[in-house]
Order: sequence, then structure tokens, then C-alpha cells
Amino acid sequence: MRAITIAEPGGPEQLAWTEVPDPVVAAGEVLIQVTATAVNRADTLQRMGFYQVPPGASPYLGLECSGKIVEVGAGVSGFVPGDEVVALLTGGGYAELVAVPAGQVAPLPNGMAALDAAGLMETLSTVWSNVFMLAGLTAGQTLLVHGGSSGIGTTAIQLAHEFGARVIVTAGSAAKLQACRDLGADVAVNYREEDFVERVREVTDGRGADVILDNMGAAYLDPNVEALAPHGRLMIIGLQGGVKGEVNLNNLLRKWGTISATTVRARSSEEKAQIVAAARDAVWPLIEQGRFRVIVDRVLPVDQAAEAHRVIEDSGHIGKVVLDVAAVRGS
Ligand SMILES: NC(=O)c1ccc[n+]([C@@H]2O[C@H](COP(=O)([O-])OP(=O)(O)OC[C@H]3O[C@@H](n4cnc5c(N)ncnc54)[C@H](OP(=O)(O)O)[C@@H]3O)[C@@H](O)[C@H]2O)c1
Repeated sequence: MRAITIAEPGGPEQLAWTEVPDPVVAAGEVLIQVTATAVNRADTLQRMGFYQVPPGASPYLGLECSGKIVEVGAGVSGFVPGDEVVALLTGGGYAELVAVPAGQVAPLPNGMAALDAAGLMETLSTVWSNVFMLAGLTAGQTLLVHGGSSGIGTTAIQLAHEFGARVIVTAGSAAKLQACRDLGADVAVNYREEDFVERVREVTDGRGADVILDNMGAAYLDPNVEALAPHGRLMIIGLQGGVKGEVNLNNLLRKWGTISATTVRARSSEEKAQIVAAARDAVWPLIEQGRFRVIVDRVLPVDQAAEAHRVIEDSGHIGKVVLDVAAVRGS
């Protein structure tokens, strides 16, 4: 098969569409012929050599895909060759074929195009596991989402809005703030011009946000705790603002607050399967009713993965950048 390989850790120019050995399907896995995959920020870190890839993961980039099952490993039930599916991957999506544990695979949702579905599973699994499973956001509560126009943000806004929460987002431009409002954000804060802590307090009558989904890590650690409501849950999923920060624990303690930091990719296959099953139960009906969609900024052929990484690194996108593998395979 062909896959995007990294010549050596560095810039996007290191990515090349290359002939590589086919993956081998183990017991409990299925082999997917990839239709499309999508770019996640972790891919850009992995390309630069800054991401700790979990042991046993595919050497290739790509945390999600849509495609068609072409082989079923020993002991797998519920899938047969020809099934159209989506998958949460631990790696290997930027390729023509990928082997994945069957629990990380779900049927292509009715009504969703395979190119859009390519960008579904990593963001959905991250948002569902953090905002709903771990933080337990409920109707009537307030969610603050940093980076509201990101792949993660556009997913979190729609789901929180759909489940009856009030949504506050941060973003860095007027166009991105508007996109967030269009998806259901109630309050949109330009982080370049406004102090988000003050704005959160102002729009919650001083109470704060019940749940914060954070991509900034150290840079926002202390202000995020300031912005938490009593019993608030700060869910750190990204470290774009650094790994080491200071926090006033007295603020956290007085609010009975919780700080969580997790990554989906490093979870076991069993945990990933639980997340995929829960997200599927909750979100497939919404997709079928047209109440949730993947926001796709653009689709590029997979052999232009370097260009796709530049778009993500320049933050020139709203939602997901999809890589079309079928277009390059010619099928
Ligand atoms: N832990 C996990 O399992 C997991 C899984 C998936 C993703 N993530 C993390 O989630 C984050 C989003 O991922 P993605 O793939 O959706 O990335 P993405 O589309 O590239 O988005 C990155 C976002 O960061 C925002 N940003 C930059 N500086 C900011 C600031 N000072 N304040 C607020 N927002 C700021 C950007 O907003 P502007 O463009 O408006 O500046 C952009 O929306 C990343 O940090 C990623 O590593 C974690």
C-alpha cells in the first residue's frame, strides 16, 4: 500500500506519499480500505518528533478515518467485508489500508458522506469522553470551550448546545467567532481583545463555567480555575500554551473544583471501545436527524498532506481539514 511517511522529524515538507508494507490484521481487528482521513493537531506534533506515540501504534500518522472493511480478523463479529465504517485510530489513517481493533470501529452514520465522516471520530471521542463521560455536563450548565472554531471546538459547541447546555467559546477572529455562534455558541469571546475570565463572570452573573474544555494547558491554567463555577471541572486536552504552569490552589479548593488532563490516544483499546460505543449511542441519532455534522473546512488529496499541515499550523481553518485517500487511489 501507500502511506504518508515522515522522512525525518521536521516541517511539512518531510511528508511524502510512499510505498510501504501492507498492515497485518491481528485477531480482534478489521482491515479498512481508507476512503479519507483528517488532520489533527497531534499529527503536526508527531511529524516534528514531539509526540509520544503509544507503544504498538502504527508508524504512520492519522487518528481517524472513514472507509470500507476489506478483511475481518479472527474472533470479530458484527462486521463483514464491504461494510462502510468510521474508525478511531491509534495511528495509521494517512494510508490506503489500516488495521484497527473492531471495538474502535462503528458503522458510517446514515446521512453522512464518507468524506465528512473522515473527520468524525477523533474529535467526537475526545469531546464525548471529556465533556460528557468524565465531566458530566448536563442541561442548564455552562460549558466554556477554548478554540471554539477548531475541530474539537466545532464538535463541542454543537453537542453541548444540542444537550441543552449554555456554550461560551473563545476564538481569535471575527469570522471564527461568527462561525461558533452559527453552530450554537451563546457567547463568543475574542481572546486577543478580551479577558475571557471577566467575560465568563459577566455572562454567568459571577458564577463561572461548570465545565471548561481547554486546549491551552499551562498558559490558561490559572485563569481557567478563576473562570470555574463552584464544583467546576477543568478538562485539559491540549498543551498549546505549555506544559508547566502555576495555579492558585486556594481558588480551586474554595470552589471544590476538579482539574483533569487526558488524551484519548494513550487509552487502551478497551477504553477506546467504550468511548466509541457511548458516542455512537448518543450521537448517531443526532446525525441521522441532521442535528450534528462534521464541519469540514476543506478536502485535499492525501498526497497533499504537507499543505494540509500548513493550513492547520497557520490556524487558517474552521473545523476539520480532510485528506481524501480514495481520490489518490483512483477508486
Ligand atoms: N487529549 C486528547 O485526546 C485530544 C484529542 C484531540 C485534540 N486534542 C487537542 O485539542 C486541541 C484542538 O485540536 P484540533 O485538532 O481541533 O486543533 P485545531 O483545529 O488546529 O485548533 C487549534 C485551536 O487553538 C486555538 N487557539 C490558539 N491560541 C489560542 C488561545 N490563546 N486561546 C484560545 N484558543 C487558542 C485556535 O484558535 P484561533 O484559530 O481562533 O486562534 C484553534 O481553534 C489541540 O490542542 C489538540 O492537541 C486533544
